[in-house]
Amino acid sequence: MSHAEDHAGTRRDFLYYATAGAGAVATGAAVWPLVNQMNASADVRALASIYVDVSGVAVGSQLTVKWRGKPVFIRRRTPEEIEAARAVQLSDLIDTQSENANKPGTDASDANRSLDEAGEWLVMLGVCTHLGCVPLGNGAGEFGGWFCPCHGSHYDTAGRIRKGPAPRNLDVPVAKFTDETTILLG
Ligand code: FES
Repeated sequence: MSHAEDHAGTRRDFLYYATAGAGAVATGAAVWPLVNQMNASADVRALASIYVDVSGVAVGSQLTVKWRGKPVFIRRRTPEEIEAARAVQLSDLIDTQSENANKPGTDASDANRSLDEAGEWLVMLGVCTHLGCVPLGNGAGEFGGWFCPCHGSHYDTAGRIRKGPAPRNLDVPVAKFTDETTILLG
């Protein structure tokens, strides 16, 4: 191999590695906000408003993020879950208030609790209103929403308490979409 060929080969290798490196950096940047959030000190967490990328949340699944020291459930509901929640009469509810920081004083109809008009997105604190345990999700409990096994509280697909000792619906925090795939909490 001549010196010139050897040099070209080296350069190709260099370009290859440089490209691979850029890919790794891009991936790192996407992952960083989440990791950063989990490593943040308690003070930083307590203050923060956070942006949550929900582009990877499939219909029928839930993302749980930690915000101000508490779990927040971000659920992308199925049409069946939305329909079930919207079919419920207020008179069937234990707690008829929405507990929605975005719409204070409104009733707990599903349209007042979901984040978007179509009702696909539901954002709630993952804290049982009985004694503060974290309810199980993904269709858990007798009402197909969330179930808190500590003392048996059942929440429906809009996070409303339907059975058990919890006195209130799951709280809806201040939240909004800032673009199609990003939710700002706080
Ligand atoms: S803390 Fe959830 S039912 Fe008691």
